[in-house]
Amino acid sequence: MLDGCGREIDYLRVSVTDRCNLRCRYCMPETGVGDLGHANILSLEQIARVVSVAAELGIRKVRLTGGEPLVRKNIGQLIRMISGLDKIKEISMTTNGALFTAMADELKEAGLTRVNFSLDSLQEENFNYITRRGQLQDVIPAITKALQMGMTPVKINMVVMRTINDREILDFARLAYVLPLHVRFIEFMPIGDLPFFQEQRLMSGDEVKAVIDQKYELSARSTRQGSGPAKDYTIRGGVGMIGFISPMSQHFCSECNRIRMTADGKLRGCLFSKNEVSLKMALQNNASDEKLAELFKQAIWEKPSRHHLAKGWGADNQRKMYQIGG
Ligand code: 5AD
Ligand code: SF4
Repeated sequence: MLDGCGREIDYLRVSVTDRCNLRCRYCMPETGVGDLGHANILSLEQIARVVSVAAELGIRKVRLTGGEPLVRKNIGQLIRMISGLDKIKEISMTTNGALFTAMADELKEAGLTRVNFSLDSLQEENFNYITRRGQLQDVIPAITKALQMGMTPVKINMVVMRTINDREILDFARLAYVLPLHVRFIEFMPIGDLPFFQEQRLMSGDEVKAVIDQKYELSARSTRQGSGPAKDYTIRGGVGMIGFISPMSQHFCSECNRIRMTADGKLRGCLFSKNEVSLKMALQNNASDEKLAELFKQAIWEKPSRHHLAKGWGADNQRKMYQIGG
């Protein structure tokens, strides 16, 4: 389905919980993490129902996000329900990986096709610092496991923050050189736990690329895969790929193909707009598929043409990243 600006929307990102087992400094405060509570979040059946309506409207790809999607109980069941829908061609997940290894076989068997890992450090101490409670030794086997299972392309998302993890840029690039991983460098955005966002910590995609260029020879991929926001490169002599996601320095809104649903059933056309359409009441009142489709169309239609992040951010946006799902 086309939105109000003529963009084809075929990608739905579903936040299945606002909870997380980690506390990444840029995302969540140490305490007082927003907890929508059981009464407020959609049931797995409700989520699956929304996806089935969305599939009829042209959604073909679904990504499960959080918080951390693997802390949601019975997530495998949800994947099974969604993968049973004919029109959905891809079900992927963005995870911090800490719980992935033990669940991987079940998830794949349920129909999970791909997985992206959020990983901001390859050094134990720094990983502990950034995530406040994560263990790198839980995440590395998860990535290995995803590769072994052939869930390709396995992607790694690194949020680059100057003085925090920028000294590890070449280590991350090397990962994509030696392994068939797709490593993506993401610009730090002023969303999440805002006190941690500081202008001087923001490093543009071009700056990160300049660091990598000193050591590796990158060539831009001529064809874009899907309509993701990353600018992708192959590495001479390497087996993986490198990508840059630069929402701050080069917004990619005109190519945006996605819509988001929060764990409490609110559709959002844009991560950065507070405009939301709630499905929750309609679901509780046993609304017909037609009614749900109408609300869905409204959310797609109202999708903003672009964000204005570079012009500042803040007080008017009440939701955090872990509530919207990244
Ligand atoms: N800036 C950039 N990326 C962020 N993410 C979460 N918060 C931010 C932020 N402030 C990323 C996570 C994950 C994805 C869902 O969004 O690291 O990779
Ligand atoms: Fe959890 Fe991801 Fe937020 Fe880290 S960035 S606290 S892993 S939701």
